[in-house]
Amino acid sequence: MIALASDHAGYALKKDLEEYLASKGYETKDFGTFSEESCDYAVYGYRACRAVTDGTCEKAVLVCGTGIGMSLAANKVKGIRCVVCSEPFSAKLSRNHNDSNVLALGSRVVGSELAKMILDVWLENDFEGGRHQRRIDLVADIENGKEL
Ligand code: RB5
Repeated sequence: MIALASDHAGYALKKDLEEYLASKGYETKDFGTFSEESCDYAVYGYRACRAVTDGTCEKAVLVCGTGIGMSLAANKVKGIRCVVCSEPFSAKLSRNHNDSNVLALGSRVVGSELAKMILDVWLENDFEGGRHQRRIDLVADIENGKEL
C-alpha cells in the first residue's frame, strides 16, 4: 500500500498519480487534502508519513507546490527518509543508497509525465545495503539525539 498526500497545490498531480498507480496495479490510500481549497501541507504529509512508520503503508508519495514543504515536514517524522526529486537519477540513488521511504514531488516544478517517470524509477529500485546501511544508521543516530 502506498500512502498519498498533498496540499491544494499538489492535489491535481496527486490525483493523476493515484490513477497512474492504480493502472499499474498498486494499491494506494489518500490521506488528503481532498480538494483544491487552500490548506497546510504539514497536516497531510504528517498523516501519510505516520501510515508508513506504523506499517500501514510501505511508502508514501507527497505532493505540494515545490515538494519542499512536504519533505521538510516528512523528515521531522522519526523513521522517515524523504527525498524531494525533480529528475529520475536522484530518485534512483535515493532508493539504492539512502533507502528513501517517502518521495516528495513539486507540482509547480515537474510536469505530470516527468513525475510519473520519477515515480516509476523510485518504486522499481531497491536499497543496496552494505556501506549504505552504516550511513543511514548514522542519520538515524542524529534523529535519536546521539553525538557524532
Ligand atoms: C503553497 O502555495 C506552497 O507554498 C506549498 O505547496 C509548497 O510548495 C511549500 O513548500
